[in-house]
Amino acid sequence: MAIQWFPGHMHLTRKAIEERIKDIDVVIEMLDARLPGSSANPMLAELTRQKPALKVINKQDLADPVCTAMWLAHYNATPGVQALALDASVAAPVRALVAACHALAPQRGGMAKPMRVLICGIPNVGKSTLINTLKGKRAAKTGDEAGVTKLEQRITIADDFYLYDTPGVLWPRIIVAKSGYNLAASGAIGRNAFNEEEVALELLDYLRQRYAGALEARYKITGVADSTDEALLDAIGRKRGALQSGGKVNLNKAAEIVIHDFRQGSLGRISLEQPQEFAQWLAIGQKLDAERQIKKDAIEQARLIRLKKIPRPQLEREPRNRDDADDEVSD
Ligand code: G4P
Repeated sequence: MAIQWFPGHMHLTRKAIEERIKDIDVVIEMLDARLPGSSANPMLAELTRQKPALKVINKQDLADPVCTAMWLAHYNATPGVQALALDASVAAPVRALVAACHALAPQRGGMAKPMRVLICGIPNVGKSTLINTLKGKRAAKTGDEAGVTKLEQRITIADDFYLYDTPGVLWPRIIVAKSGYNLAASGAIGRNAFNEEEVALELLDYLRQRYAGALEARYKITGVADSTDEALLDAIGRKRGALQSGGKVNLNKAAEIVIHDFRQGSLGRISLEQPQEFAQWLAIGQKLDAERQIKKDAIEQARLIRLKKIPRPQLEREPRNRDDADDEVSD
C-alpha cells in the first residue's frame, strides 16, 4: 500500500528527541492498544535505548482485553520496560503512570531532582488527552485529524514532575505491510494517504477470522467466517444502504462505514494484533526489507560499473582532432 506523508515532521521530531533525551529520566511511549506492535515507533527504540521506558497501552477501552493482557505481559517481561494499560481520559488510573515513572527512576523526585519525562507517540494515539487528564485541565490540544504537529512543550504535572511533549509522528517507511493497514484503520494516518477500500478489505480479512461474531451482530449478516473479504464488504454495503445508481454497492462508502465502526468501537472491543503474530509479521518484513536493500545495492553497483566502463571521450563528446571538429560543425 502506498502511504505518503511529509517526512519533515519526522526529522524535526527526531532532532527534538535527540537534543532532549540526555536530560530525560523516563521515556513514555504511548501505544494504541488495538495495534501495539504497529504503533511502536522503531526510530524511538533506537533513539532512547538507554532510558527506562514506560509503555502506555492506551485506548484499552476499545481493545480486546485478552490481547491487551498479552501485550502487557510481553512488555513487562522486557528488562528496563514497564507497561500500563489506560483509557487516557480516566483520571485515577492515569495517576498510576506517575507512580510507574517513579518506580522506573527512583533516584529522581523532589524539587532538587525533578522527574523529567519525555512523552512520544504516533498521531491520534491520545497524547493530548492523557496530558489534559494528568494536568486536570486542557493543557494540550486534542483533535481528530492525523498529522497535526506542535512544537515540544514542557508541562508541569507537579512541582517535581515535568512532562516534555513531542509532536505525534510516523516514520518514513513501514516495513511490516500489515502495520500500514492497521495504522490506517486506527486513524493514525491522514485519510488522503491511503485507499479506504484496500484498508477496509484488510481489516475485514482479520476480523472475519478473529471476530466473525462481532461482524455478524453489527451488520446482521451470516456466514462471515466462510465469506471472502470482497463479498463481505459488498454485503455490508448492501445492508447499510451504501448503494449507487443501478443498485450496485458503493464500495468506497461501505469501506468508510467499516473503518468508522472499527474506530468508534461499534464492532465491540477489538485488537488487530497479538505479540506473537506481530513478531512473525516483523520477521517477514525485515527479511523482505533486507532483500530489497540487497537488490538496491546491486543495481547501484551495476550503475557505477557501467559508468566506469564508458570511455571518457565518448562521455564528453570532445572532438579528437581538427578534422572531427570540422565534421561536427558541418553536420
Ligand atoms: P494525540 O494528541 O496523540 O494526537 O491524540 P488525542 O489526545 O488528540 O486523541 C485522539 C482521539 O482519540 C480523540 O478523539 C480522543 O478523544 C481519543 N482518545 C484518546 N485517548 C483515548 C482512550 O483512551 N480511549 C478512547 N476511546 N479514545 C481516546 P477525537 O474523536 O479525535 O476527539 P474528541 O472526541 O476528543 O473530540
